[in-house]
Amino acid sequence: MTDASAQQNDDLAPEAAADSGAALSPQPLAERVENRSQKPTSDTFRAFMASQWAPASQELPGLDASALFAARRRAAVSAMFPGERIVVPAGRPKVRSNDTDYRFRAHSAFAHLTGLGVDHEPDAVLVLEPTDAGAGDAGTDHAATLYFRPLAGRDTEQFYSDPRAGEFWIGPRPTLAELAARTGLRTAGLEELENAVTKDVAATAVRLLREADQDMDAVVAAARADAGVDAQAAGAADAALAEALSELRLVKDEWEVERMRASVASTIAGFEDVVRALPRAVGHARGERVVEGAFFARAREEGNDLGYDTIAACGNNATVLHWIRNTGQVREGELILVDAGVEDDSLYTADITRTLPVSGTYSDVQRRVYQAVLDAADAAFALVKPGTRFREIHAEAMRVLAGRLHGWGLLPVSPEEALSEAGQHHRRWMPHGTSHHLGLDVHDCAQARRELYLDAVLEPGMVFTIEPGLYFKAEDLAIPEEYRGIGVRIEDDILVTEDGAENLSAALPRTPEDVEAWMARLQG
Ligand code: GLY
Ligand code: MN
Ligand code: MN
Repeated sequence: MTDASAQQNDDLAPEAAADSGAALSPQPLAERVENRSQKPTSDTFRAFMASQWAPASQELPGLDASALFAARRRAAVSAMFPGERIVVPAGRPKVRSNDTDYRFRAHSAFAHLTGLGVDHEPDAVLVLEPTDAGAGDAGTDHAATLYFRPLAGRDTEQFYSDPRAGEFWIGPRPTLAELAARTGLRTAGLEELENAVTKDVAATAVRLLREADQDMDAVVAAARADAGVDAQAAGAADAALAEALSELRLVKDEWEVERMRASVASTIAGFEDVVRALPRAVGHARGERVVEGAFFARAREEGNDLGYDTIAACGNNATVLHWIRNTGQVREGELILVDAGVEDDSLYTADITRTLPVSGTYSDVQRRVYQAVLDAADAAFALVKPGTRFREIHAEAMRVLAGRLHGWGLLPVSPEEALSEAGQHHRRWMPHGTSHHLGLDVHDCAQARRELYLDAVLEPGMVFTIEPGLYFKAEDLAIPEEYRGIGVRIEDDILVTEDGAENLSAALPRTPEDVEAWMARLQG
């Protein structure tokens, strides 16, 4: 990676560092990053650097396919909070180490309300400014503006000297006009942001999506304090906004469903890559990493990234629910649980799990456990239709699993007693939930109220996982030896339709016979 400067920082040579802190240097630490700079500063250089560039294209892009859907979502927010200023930050780049950031990924609420996906837009903030009734965007009560850092001209210092935003360093970024054309939003530069957010705070209630951007949290808190706004009431108002934005994502629109189909298709291709990589994984000192890497390559080639860290868990590691160390070996005769999802460039993710026999065929006991989990998944799926309660899906999967565990002689009590609230013995082997909403976040809609999530009635357009499992740890003395060290999860992504449900990930083989035939074909 190109260093912003290769110059040694002599200020912190060991002899100097041995001095007391005060004697070390009067230069503030924050400024010392400049000590590494070898950037030319002469006027001649600046003038030469600013000259002789071909003019930028004046052609503007068309409207993104997401823009009309995003406008509808903003209209829904506007209707919920008339007369109030709504502030939704994209978030700031996150430091990975020193001056190296993680790849930027916007807050999901910002992506939802702008329709912007990959790379957009560090430090940006969406502001919905209240208007007179009906005088806002498309007859709503708000006018929305996207504040962001537009591309700086080639005659600016930022062009060549800013490693976080300069075109010479990170490539071109949109201008105000380009992003306005793509999103249908008004756009403005970040220099106008603080005033736009804090003006008339005493008269205009501000609701902020907190914890997306610490600077924005501080700016709004200070403006409220100056204006004498009650901090507790403001906190409650902000929390209600977070809840509303999360709940707004419970039902997906057509564009979201289309993008999730794309994420699922890439994820299925990634699982095919995993199967092809299994022979190389076997015998590798960290075979699970071979599996993880095979899937990751597909995620980057077809999508933006992984939607979450891949779980590649062989043998007993599969009994660790979120095994993401992936440091284990991949051994013939064992099962490997792979839980992985590609995040599309739109930032929507899939979340799929398959548990595969490393050598291509399930043993009898592996097949028995696998079939029980599959039956639980199928029974749960059969219930999915508008009107079913979300929590019934889990209850149905538990009913099937408790029955199987009883049939194998593993339950110390009857299935009825285990399934009662006071029992729950079967949960020793399946301690997680069966379903969660899926979308921009892998665990989407996490701030929604219980009555709109667990206790909710299903509606067309909801997308969630069904992911039962059984996890028999190697050291579990409550079960016969033959079960120990087997972990199975099967996870699919389910869309509620007008009259039932669609398994979006059904094209990835699920039955033991189909999995075996598919693996044989891919490895053939
Ligand atoms: N991969 C995390 C989950 O399945 O919820
Ligand atoms: Mn999941
Ligand atoms: Mn998963």
